[in-house]
Amino acid sequence: MKLGCMRPGRGWSRRQPRSLKNNRVSKYVIGARSWWQRRAPLAVSSPPHARTDTSVPRQCLPLAPHIGASMLIAQLSDLHVCAPEVLYHGLIDSNEMLVRAIDSVLELDLRPDFVVITGDVTADGLPEEYEHACALLGRLPMPWYVIPGNHDKREAFRQAFRGLGFLPETGPLNYAVSLGNLNLVALDSTDDCSHAGSLDDQTLLWLEDALLSFEGRPALVVMHHPPFSCGISYLDAYGCVDGEKLAGLIGRHRGIEAVLCGHVHRSIVRKWANTLAMSAPSTASEIALRLSPLATPASFSAPVGYLLHMWSPVNGLVTHLVRSGLALDPLPFF
Ligand SMILES: [Fe+2]
Repeated sequence: MKLGCMRPGRGWSRRQPRSLKNNRVSKYVIGARSWWQRRAPLAVSSPPHARTDTSVPRQCLPLAPHIGASMLIAQLSDLHVCAPEVLYHGLIDSNEMLVRAIDSVLELDLRPDFVVITGDVTADGLPEEYEHACALLGRLPMPWYVIPGNHDKREAFRQAFRGLGFLPETGPLNYAVSLGNLNLVALDSTDDCSHAGSLDDQTLLWLEDALLSFEGRPALVVMHHPPFSCGISYLDAYGCVDGEKLAGLIGRHRGIEAVLCGHVHRSIVRKWANTLAMSAPSTASEIALRLSPLATPASFSAPVGYLLHMWSPVNGLVTHLVRSGLALDPLPFF
């Protein structure tokens, strides 16, 4: 099947990006920019994934600028990276699962332009876990953006990924970057005292400011905790407690293509706040689908899974659930 919106060879005729750094909206005027500069958040002056910062491996593989107005975004979530040779909960090789997920992303017939990682990058927020996560994610040749989850530690997270250039120096890890014609707005929904999520007033004010600055142009909002009820009681107990506040805010703005989340280790989609909200599967494990209010929580090992978002001004957002390792050989199309 041909994908008309993903024609190779289209130029970079994108609108001037904008960036929000240190929780402040700022506008930029740029001149000629090389291809990596056009892909990078404007808050940085060098390619965010080719820094010499020792906390982030150098990534310098060039990508052909194969898209114009459309783009492909892979969403990985809940990686739960452990220190080398350590199993997640002593049972699952989450590090190897991430390697397989990245393999799958790199084997796609069209290479994603960006990767978004929606939280729980590490199992316990330990420095050695972040170091290993950076090493594994360093294989990605395209820019990648991360947000924290409840298993991350905010300051350790900030320290580990500060070299990428998009995280604020203080406060909640909220940021916004331009992905060409699409804005990415990242919210920090973590709560130091709970595995459930919350959004403080500072974050909500910042989000309102950011969305106003977009003036209705397309945006993706990403956050770790789903702000909606998913119908699985043991997951809803750890959702985002400020979901209704966020729904009121999101619902007032045009152009929000979707709210992309992680946390629940399941692929779930629902209409919410006049847009779509969805969660990505974990690359590491699957949480059981048990709908009874009295169900006992359970997790399973599962094939590597992630979401692949195709976006274009014509079609909007089209999302595919990718599972890797289910089939041995491709079959004819029938
Ligand atoms: Fe998780």
